[in-house]
Amino acid sequence: MSRIYSGCGSAVSRLPGIFVSEPILTLSDVVVAFDALRAVDGVSMSVPRGQRRAIIGPNGAGKTTLFNAIAGGLPPTSGCIAFDGQNITRLPPYRRARLGISRTFQITNLFPTLSVRENMVLALRGRSSRKFSLFGRPDEDSSERPRIAAALDAARIASRADVIVKELSYGEQRQLEIALSLVTTPRLLLLDEPAAGLSPLERSMVADIIRSLDREITVVLIEHDMDLALGLVDFVTCMFEGRILVEEPPDGIRGNKQVQQVYLGTPRHA
Ligand SMILES: Nc1ncnc2c1ncn2[C@@H]1O[C@H](COP(=O)(O)OP(=O)(O)OP(=O)(O)O)[C@@H](O)[C@H]1O
Ligand SMILES: [Mg+2]
Repeated sequence: MSRIYSGCGSAVSRLPGIFVSEPILTLSDVVVAFDALRAVDGVSMSVPRGQRRAIIGPNGAGKTTLFNAIAGGLPPTSGCIAFDGQNITRLPPYRRARLGISRTFQITNLFPTLSVRENMVLALRGRSSRKFSLFGRPDEDSSERPRIAAALDAARIASRADVIVKELSYGEQRQLEIALSLVTTPRLLLLDEPAAGLSPLERSMVADIIRSLDREITVVLIEHDMDLALGLVDFVTCMFEGRILVEEPPDGIRGNKQVQQVYLGTPRHA
């Protein structure tokens, strides 16, 4: 058996004759502490390329904090994060974004008085090294047009491209958030509760969008709606009190007693 370097000093096993591609994302013993509270408390996990992974767990389990550690908003207190074999633990968020890590936020984060297309232009320019002005309306140029069109199509919001964002329904705004995270052609997409607050019809639209994403993009999503999450992913990580409680394919999660218990129990920060 040989070992391949995961980028954080740990190694991944490789059986002779079996090709095991290096995981796109590896977390080794990651801790994120807010004073005495260890919101993420020693998480180790690895996500294979192209996988659809759900992170589930009750309120306060540390899911969003884990996303912040991966995307760079909150550097870990200790531990190590590798993306595509590179140690990114101390990289600022914009450098991680340039490597191909993209995330949506739980809270809507858009320019409400600009059009859908103008928001897309700003998102694209914000991630590139190109200079841009926040004065005047941002027009897409010919080099940007195909990427913007592809991301709007993938998020099924192309027909609303010229609508001012504040005129969009809440569901359409969530679709735009997905489009914004796709326009930079990410390799790892982190979706934090993409269907939160949506009607059943809008939820199934978001599920279809995620299902149709190119398999070149690895998707990790946080979702409280168990039916939605388990219907979309290949693998599930359940967190509780900052730690990984269970990791299993969706079928195992459905009947897992520990998972049922933490959802019925009282979260630590309630
Ligand atoms: N900036 C912060 N400062 C202090 N404590 C924080 C901060 N961010 C999160 N926490 C705490 O860390 C713990 C984990 O929070 P986190 O938001 O990661 O949970 P979550 O699993 O995303 O929950 P939810 O399902 O409600 O979104 C909670 O106890 C929360 O109160
Ligand atoms: Mg959260």
